[in-house]
Amino acid sequence: MTPEQQNQLKKSVAQAAADYVAENLQTGAILGVGTGSTANLFIDALVPIKEKIRGAVASSEASAHKLTAIGIPLVDLNDIDTMPIYVDGADEIDKSFAMIKGGGGALTREKIIADVADVFVCIADTTKVVSVLGKFPLPIEVLPMAVAQVSRALAKLGGTPVLRKGFVTDNGNHILDVSGLSITDPRAFESALNQIVGTVTNGLFARRSADVLLLGTLDGVETHIR
Ligand code: A5P
Repeated sequence: MTPEQQNQLKKSVAQAAADYVAENLQTGAILGVGTGSTANLFIDALVPIKEKIRGAVASSEASAHKLTAIGIPLVDLNDIDTMPIYVDGADEIDKSFAMIKGGGGALTREKIIADVADVFVCIADTTKVVSVLGKFPLPIEVLPMAVAQVSRALAKLGGTPVLRKGFVTDNGNHILDVSGLSITDPRAFESALNQIVGTVTNGLFARRSADVLLLGTLDGVETHIR
């Protein structure tokens, strides 16, 4: 698939997600909005329905700026108890809707918002669908003082961690991108990663996977429900 074709699929799936929000979000409710190129297109597609959305919780400063620019007010996650829908992209997604996320470095806020949301809508094109997670290097957010220690722990789990150079997360931390993994049991592997002291969050979304997958294909957008 050419980059132009992939971008077209991202646009179609972003529009499908805006249609999903128009149909399923009650007027005046709060929406969770993710990060990345597909999420950016989704924010653009929200313009015609923005009056319906009382406010949004953004998973990154970048998405927060984009939402503000189109006139959707930002909401602090601490000020709400529930969130009906969270829409975000993925770097990889498998048939159980477990995902690798964090290519854009926003994995921690994404995981927190996903945990609050009633329905996680993943917006992806067919290049993101895999049978086994792990070809895309798994991002791990790490406290700066723990980079070396966490790297050793990740190597013991069979991965090859590489520090994302020149990148600091919105939370002031570093990212290790871990390659060489074949994640055959994502839930168990996520639990193992959660035990490594010094990590803030890992980009494996298996324990809280997506509920709905809007998949952009060359034949149109497919809706898959877990
Ligand atoms: C951001 O941290 C990520 O989790 C993104 O959701 C993911 O990387 C997908 O991004 P794209 O839509 O740009 O592929």
